[in-house]
Amino acid sequence: MTHARQHTIQVVAHRGASEDAPEHTLAAYTRAIEDGADALECDVRLTADGHLVCVHDRRVNRTSNGRGAVSTLELADLAQLDFGAWKGLEESDERPDWRDPQLTSVLTLERLLELVADAGRRVELAIETKHPTRWAGRVEQRLIELLDRFGLAAPPPGEPSPVRIMSFSGRSLHRVAAAAPGIPVVYLMQFVSPRNRDGRLPAGARTAGLSIRILRNHPGYVERLHRAGHRIHVWTVDDPADVELCVRLGAEAIITNRPKQVLAQLGRG
Ligand code: G3P
Ligand code: CA
Repeated sequence: MTHARQHTIQVVAHRGASEDAPEHTLAAYTRAIEDGADALECDVRLTADGHLVCVHDRRVNRTSNGRGAVSTLELADLAQLDFGAWKGLEESDERPDWRDPQLTSVLTLERLLELVADAGRRVELAIETKHPTRWAGRVEQRLIELLDRFGLAAPPPGEPSPVRIMSFSGRSLHRVAAAAPGIPVVYLMQFVSPRNRDGRLPAGARTAGLSIRILRNHPGYVERLHRAGHRIHVWTVDDPADVELCVRLGAEAIITNRPKQVLAQLGRG
């Protein structure tokens, strides 16, 4: 029988408050902070001229009015695009602040780090490296250089880092762990595979970032990871029944597109 653990479950805004505002924009992250999210999730990619930008897809086609792969565009090209117009305005939305072009231009990781630094309270950041193998280490190198500029690459021993790096790529996590051993790494998993069935994670990861499907289909796996001393973060958890499942199985963090509603369900709204 599974017992819920005694801890406050962290609520992480997936791509910002991305149910309400266009994902990976200042509008979505500002709203997530206002809504009380404990942490922000973002995906990062390198532009052709070496800037880290917060974009999920390989191409900008879905989330902007432009076309093309992030890796072939320069930051100046991306700065011409509108990353907000694709998102329809819900009738129930009382705060269409994301119609402000300043809040919907391409978001650099640097700007997101500034937002977090100015939040006025502790807001953690969960940064996911997307397609890191393409760049043979440059994504991780730029990431750590940037975190270093913000004083985040080497948290004092014993102090919890406000930043963590996540990836589906064990190789990417190995690079981070080698270059910046103080930054926690999170191994993302969509499925339980023979390689990780026994509860071992690569690159010294102490946290598994699991798809909610794993919790639905293999709840015993969560116990196995916990017994191995790992923490469990779960994505993408928008359904109240799934929130309940995460609580019941003792997950340490819920990654959701709707942080406000999840916080309310957890009695923290
Ligand atoms: O937080 C992990 C989750 O974001 C991984 O999936 O496709 O949303 O980046 P994706
Ligand atoms: Ca992600």
